Amino acid sequence: QIDEAEVVAFSVPSYACLRRTTLDNHNPVLTDALSLLAENAELSDEDGRGVAFRRAAAVLKALPEPVTGVTQLRGLPCLGGHSLRVIRDILENGASSEVEFTKQSERFKALKVLTDIFGVGAKTAERWIRDGIHSLHQLQESGQTLNRAQQAGLEHYDDLKQPVTKAEADAIGEIVEEAVVSVLPGAQITLIGGFRRGKLTGHDVDFLITHPEEGREVGLMPKVVSWLESQVKLSGTKQTENTPEDTGHRRWRAVRVDLVVSPISQFAFALLGWTGSKLFERELRRWAGHEKAMSLSSHALYDNKQVNTLHYAVLPKRVFFVIVAGKNP
Ligand code: GTP
Ligand code: MN
Ligand code: MN
Repeated sequence: QIDEAEVVAFSVPSYACLRRTTLDNHNPVLTDALSLLAENAELSDEDGRGVAFRRAAAVLKALPEPVTGVTQLRGLPCLGGHSLRVIRDILENGASSEVEFTKQSERFKALKVLTDIFGVGAKTAERWIRDGIHSLHQLQESGQTLNRAQQAGLEHYDDLKQPVTKAEADAIGEIVEEAVVSVLPGAQITLIGGFRRGKLTGHDVDFLITHPEEGREVGLMPKVVSWLESQVKLSGTKQTENTPEDTGHRRWRAVRVDLVVSPISQFAFALLGWTGSKLFERELRRWAGHEKAMSLSSHALYDNKQVNTLHYAVLPKRVFFVIVAGKNP
């Protein structure tokens, strides 16, 4: 018998963007399970279900301590019947049969392996699976034509699967900064994505590039890419010098890098929009739309009642503050 008085009940705002989110997750078993179901839904073209599982996982991530019983979850937002069933299964039986079944399914395993190739999305993977391709080996043997990104993705598969550390992100930041400043003096680069949120590892490194003079950033991206290609022999993001151990230099490995260029007038919105997480951004836009009647994108914030006027463009600091308050307390 559970003594109701001893049960810790939690309270969490329903919009993810209104929560204080820490990097400490006290419920990793539950959130891993829900994230796996979200991933499976997304890979199966069921985005609605995917978002529902992501929202449920995010609520559990926001809790200040481990959940020990479903009664604690009463009144929490975003926990639908399906998610609650999964949580109950895990709390009561140690595992969710649905999660275990999904993990073992040939279809899910094949979708994971194939979409883990840089440049391969769910649609392509789906098509390959219908052609009987379930593994990297089968893909290589199949004679399927791969585009340049996919070729690089396959070639550097193991490297790209390794999480990127903050130290690696900083090292890459120096290279990218050198490239950017060489082709456009005065340009500025900012680390965005997960590392800006304080994560210690990531699946890639994201940078936002701008120049304090509006318009100077036009045409910058191809120049940066050419500079990188000529200076560090990249295929996408790869440098393959096998320097001898005794020189003390570490071997470079393939790391995925995302570069975004924005004019300074849109910088605040780009910074906010590319810092993530994906769910935080989605919720922030939903909140802006439903609660404030405004439209937020990575380019601008509009008042829906005066769609022709750009709002807050002259108040970038305030927009910046939203993310500092929400994501890095
Ligand atoms: P890890 O890379 O795994 O550490 O996580 P992350 O949060 O950095 O994810 P990711 O690099 O995929 O994305 C970083 C941010 O860029 C997130 O806020 C995404 O919403 C945003 N983002 C990613 N792809 C796109 C895109 O195609 N368009 C726009 N506008 N934003 C994107
Ligand atoms: Mn990232
Ligand atoms: Mn990215």
